[in-house]
Amino acid sequence: MFDIFEKRESQVRSYCRNFPIEFNKAKGAVLTSIDGQEYIDFFAGAGAMNFGHNNEYIKKQIMDYLSQDKIIHALDMFTEAKEKWLNGFTEKIFIPKNLDYKIMCCGATGTNAVEAALKLARKNTKRTNVFAFTGAFHGMTLGSLAMTSDRHSRLGAGLPLNNVTFVPYYNAFKDYTQSLDYLEMILSDDHSGIDLPAAIVLETVQAEGGVNVAPKEWLQGIRKICDKYGILMIIDDIQVGICRTGDFFSWERANIIPDMVVLSKSISGFGLPMAILLVKPEYDIFSPAEHNGTFRGNQLGFVGSLAGIEYYHDHQLDKEVKRKEKIVQDFLERRIMPIDVRLDIRGIGLIWGIDFIKIDAQLSKAVMQKCVENGLIIERAGREDSVIKILPPLTIEDDTLLNGLSILENAVKDVLSNPAR
Ligand SMILES: Cc1ncc(COP(=O)(O)O)c(C=O)c1O
Repeated sequence: MFDIFEKRESQVRSYCRNFPIEFNKAKGAVLTSIDGQEYIDFFAGAGAMNFGHNNEYIKKQIMDYLSQDKIIHALDMFTEAKEKWLNGFTEKIFIPKNLDYKIMCCGATGTNAVEAALKLARKNTKRTNVFAFTGAFHGMTLGSLAMTSDRHSRLGAGLPLNNVTFVPYYNAFKDYTQSLDYLEMILSDDHSGIDLPAAIVLETVQAEGGVNVAPKEWLQGIRKICDKYGILMIIDDIQVGICRTGDFFSWERANIIPDMVVLSKSISGFGLPMAILLVKPEYDIFSPAEHNGTFRGNQLGFVGSLAGIEYYHDHQLDKEVKRKEKIVQDFLERRIMPIDVRLDIRGIGLIWGIDFIKIDAQLSKAVMQKCVENGLIIERAGREDSVIKILPPLTIEDDTLLNGLSILENAVKDVLSNPAR
């Protein structure tokens, strides 16, 4: 059935190996295969589909734009679509949140915007080193990959990945304050042997790292350290921004303001390729074309992104996520945690993880496969892929959410009760 994919598509393909299904249609939080089988989506394009598949409001804006033969590709020339989007971002996001950022349109993928942030931090500070955290994932191009922690991804580089010092994330020690103490120690000790970094780059919730939710006090501690040592704080909000954690930006819960913010995945509202960098105006010092690229002006992305911002605003998507967070948390605590006390459950908003590492990391694979068999698309993350990651579209209906959670519950029960394991 999958002959042409196996024969013609590169070996590098990955997600299709976990989901051997040919998909055809998608609506809201449901994917449909070519033979009409429906699957609940707890994967949401790895965070690219926060507004749901084919969101009616966003789709309409895109269809209207297309039907009028408006410009689709424009590099970074001025266009009406970009003008409206910049105005919308300013009025609906920056002004209400009292933020002042310049917006840099980057190449079409998250990793390109991470590269832009790195270059800009190095240019601003004239330093080469940056700090990244154990468990981090920032993308697959060389600069971002140098800050990505997992061995498998790093091996693909084929050359040394350097100019990055990995430091312990909040969960590396028993108590998050130890991670801050460690940072303070290596920065204050002029014999630590570690060069002062241009930036500390972090995710407020490590998604690929296994759903590790940094406490707000830890995030505030990082902000303080950055201020004290003149280091730029860069938050990679690619996977957990755009309301995923219950706030438009994931760092709002800590009452901090990063110097730069990287956004991609759901920023286009519709799953279109788009990535941007928010930069405090004083750090916006690239000269024209110093970070260039053909696809920095995805007009459909601007149209979708503006519609997404309007949808967030009109539907109070942030509040909706906080409401649904309770549904998921309650289900996991009441129905899944009691299955085995060694399961570790953690999360925020609509990103949750069930960690099997204390039982057997490999069990997560069997759980994922059982879920797929029973109509739920779900992925794994973290060390040894031991974490089942729950990441539905934020617009998922309550009953679909509960149905998906029930499929997951049954899969966990099935796998843990199997005497053969
Ligand atoms: C936190 C984070 N940063 C960066 C990236 C890379 O984005 P892209 O795959 O669009 O290059 C990802 C992708 O999963 C991510 O989750």
